[in-house]
Amino acid sequence: MNPILTVETLSFHYHDGEPLFENIQFSIFPGTLTALIGPNGSGKSTLLRLLAGIIPARQGKILLNQTSLCSFSIRERAQRIAFLPQNIFPVFPLTVFEIVAMGRYPWKPILSGLSQKDYEITDKCIHLMNLNSLEDRPYSELSGGECKRTLIASILAQEPEILLLDEPLAGLDLPHQIETLHHLCKLTQEGYTVIIASHEINIITRFAQKFILLSSNHQIIAQGDAETTLTKDNLNRAYNASFWVGTHPLTKGLLIEVEQKETR
Ligand SMILES: Nc1ncnc2c1ncn2[C@@H]1O[C@H](COP(=O)(O)OP(=O)(O)O)[C@@H](O)[C@H]1O
Ligand SMILES: [Mg+2]
Repeated sequence: MNPILTVETLSFHYHDGEPLFENIQFSIFPGTLTALIGPNGSGKSTLLRLLAGIIPARQGKILLNQTSLCSFSIRERAQRIAFLPQNIFPVFPLTVFEIVAMGRYPWKPILSGLSQKDYEITDKCIHLMNLNSLEDRPYSELSGGECKRTLIASILAQEPEILLLDEPLAGLDLPHQIETLHHLCKLTQEGYTVIIASHEINIITRFAQKFILLSSNHQIIAQGDAETTLTKDNLNRAYNASFWVGTHPLTKGLLIEVEQKETR
């Protein structure tokens, strides 16, 4: 099977800034859930923006289905890749339904209204994210978790092949975090490819097949499955902290903690 996304010798720096990424590479296969893990400032959001084509790579290549990402038009890219940024504050007073329906924009002829198909897909995504009872509520009056679920429904309505989500679990309570990951896993089983940046290591290890571990100096310390990537040594190097890695008594997956420093 060919990768759906390939990153080859990618280097990047913000305008006058220090080099952020130097020669990083990885491949993402269709129908998988990948977690980008790393400390604050390690470059997770930047990497997602590069993969979404929102900021261009300075050197190296990002290939979508073997074709350079920059050869797709913005509309073509939006039909294939949906990106959910960390924070969104809509300027207009939109309802939950209207926000979700906005996901249909890349598929609509310019200035046309919603088609029957657009309505059907919007309804399906509202239902999928348990938003039926909220669909007429103004987005500005939702709780943080309800906002997140609305935004996820909106990018699902975009019907992309690839979903890039920047900290989609932040602000959700534990049951909603798990429910969101269940939804995303279900999507991967239907063939969608999902990449998530998240700090919720202990939850995500139960769901993701692949992990990319970034360090505070923006290097990929390790990539692969949870057991080989999220080792004590790799986590210590990535976060410059002292980790403890054990087995979760209930799930039998990894259980990751930071060792307490003695304070006197
Ligand atoms: N728009 C920007 N312009 C300049 N520097 C930025 C910008 N966005 C992020 N950075 C810098 O790039 C580095 C990585 O940031 P980011 O990708 O947001 O990391 P993370 O998502 O892992 O917290 C940080 O040092 C941050 O200050
Ligand atoms: Mg970030």
